[in-house]
Amino acid sequence: MLPYDDLLTDLKGLYEGERDPIANAANTAAPIWQHLPDINGDSCYFHKGGELVLGPFHGELAYVRIALGKGVCGTAAPGKKAVVVLDVHKFPSHIACGSVSNSEIVVPLIRNRRLIGVLDIDSPSLDRFAEADRIGSEAVAAAYVAALNA
Ligand code: SME
Repeated sequence: MLPYDDLLTDLKGLYEGERDPIANAANTAAPIWQHLPDINGDSCYFHKGGELVLGPFHGELAYVRIALGKGVCGTAAPGKKAVVVLDVHKFPSHIACGSVSNSEIVVPLIRNRRLIGVLDIDSPSLDRFAEADRIGSEAVAAAYVAALNA
């Protein structure tokens, strides 16, 4: 069974009846940290005034503000799909939040066709994120956004 199945079950239970973006982001970051193996951090960022501003996160300390177009987060933000980076050292504008991360996946959070933020997950391993992780993390993003609209 993929970790995303249990993660999504937990998330949907935690989101039940709650529409606050901060509370639900906190209840996204913590379960991701608990369920996904081989990660060193996961962070929620909110889109505010043309930049990404840090929200709830777990693990490695995270950059507080990221300009759109900068880093993996700022690159993924305008898109519709997750950006998977197998080796962050080969990603030209990667923003290192520490020396531990070697791979990363970032999923845009799109609500009513508007960018509201991104979900960023880092791993100390190279090549950590596969297609199943892209599908799973996009399902997490969709569940988070659906709870805001519930
Ligand atoms: N590595 C990200 C920055 C966020 S910290 O990893 C949490 C990036 O390149 O956008």
